[in-house]
Amino acid sequence: MSRKDNSNSMWGGRFAEGPSALMREINASISFDKRLWRQDIQASKAHVAMLAAQRIVSGEDAAAIADGLDRIAAEYEAGGLSEDPALEDIHMHVEHRLAELVGPAAGRLHTARSRNDQVATDFRLWVRDAIDEVLDGLSGLRRALVRRAGDHVETVMPGFTHLQVAQPVTLGHHLMAYYEMARRDMSRFADARARMNECPLGAAALAGTGFPIDRRATAQTLGFDRPTANSLDSVSDRDFALDYLMAATQCALHLSRLAEEFILWASQPFGFVTLPDAYSTGSSIMPQKRNPDAAELVRGHSGRIAGAMVALVMTMKGLPLAYSKDMQDDKPPVFEAHDLLALSIAAMTGMVESVTFNADRMRIAAEAGHSTATDLADWLVQVAGIPFREAHHITGRAVRLAEERNVRLWELPLDALVSIDPRIDASIFDVLSVDASVQSRTSHGGTAPSAVRERIAEAQKALEMDR
Ligand code: ARG
Repeated sequence: MSRKDNSNSMWGGRFAEGPSALMREINASISFDKRLWRQDIQASKAHVAMLAAQRIVSGEDAAAIADGLDRIAAEYEAGGLSEDPALEDIHMHVEHRLAELVGPAAGRLHTARSRNDQVATDFRLWVRDAIDEVLDGLSGLRRALVRRAGDHVETVMPGFTHLQVAQPVTLGHHLMAYYEMARRDMSRFADARARMNECPLGAAALAGTGFPIDRRATAQTLGFDRPTANSLDSVSDRDFALDYLMAATQCALHLSRLAEEFILWASQPFGFVTLPDAYSTGSSIMPQKRNPDAAELVRGHSGRIAGAMVALVMTMKGLPLAYSKDMQDDKPPVFEAHDLLALSIAAMTGMVESVTFNADRMRIAAEAGHSTATDLADWLVQVAGIPFREAHHITGRAVRLAEERNVRLWELPLDALVSIDPRIDASIFDVLSVDASVQSRTSHGGTAPSAVRERIAEAQKALEMDR
């Protein structure tokens, strides 16, 4: 067999129906952009109402079109339309079905618009709804964190740096750290929403239109603050989708860190938490196993969400103005990221709500690793007036002695401490326990129960205003 014949048999069969079949296949987006059906119909209804108000189409045709669009919405609600790749996308599917339902009047809907401004409008509406859903989800997560933190304002646990026991903290404080992340995530999504809330409809293909349209009217009907200012930018801008994906990436990154902590804490050497059955799975071979799969999937999904963000960045980079078909690829990453993010937020909220915290294990771990050594050094500074650097040195000797004797810092007898430095007296024992340590950290934003209670009260107030 010649090389030529061979290569034909490799790909020639594909062209049995001629290149147009392949063209149809690569061109079609209906398989995924049907998710925009609601927004497509909503935008078309706003458009046709404006066309009628501006006397660009007759009231009679506009009414027939609006009625047909409502019927199509009902058909989608009931299970969808049949799909034909030759009709490419959701916009042409809706218009084609409209022609079947209302006849030639349907052809007037596409006056003074293009699929370019149409898809830009539909997709913005979709992303805006997605943001609202995420904001709701994050509100729920914040509430759950505040509620659990409130129950554990006094529960001590080890605070880590380098994953080495550093200083004791309270569990309430630790949970509230994630509250702060979720709060910033919400502000990023809210910013993205405010920035994107301009309506591209009426930019038409790229240059605007000569029809006497009223862009303010359609913008207002669709809940946008104003029409976009530049027709070229309107049809080629996907910043709103990138803003969403970037906010989603950062949010997913936070969720993955919380997920990772739950995974670590649920492991036997830690034993800080017992994950609820509802968020764990067993092993098919090891009967004792109880795996934190949901948390692991949240950790894993964060990578896919970041990947979706990078995918759209790569699609958009270097595209000249205005619309290019590359931009049709904007939707799958956003849909995927949103589905994964919504699921991840819900799963982490559920875990935060129902996880069991094992306070005893946390206390034992907090008391290990000489976690109150800094408190000893601080006492030498505050009570004995020793410069911190010297105090650090003296404390290091005390830690070494405790290690040699295999006891905790506060179990060293006073005379042993005095032999290290004669300025030490019995009041040192007031600061060496983990409880005393956390109680003392009252600086703004510190881990002291009093400080954490204050922050929780502020958070509760903020969440109350959110409602
Ligand atoms: N399906 C297309 C997309 O999602 C709609 C816009 C098509 N515009 C065009 N000039 N072919 O991007």
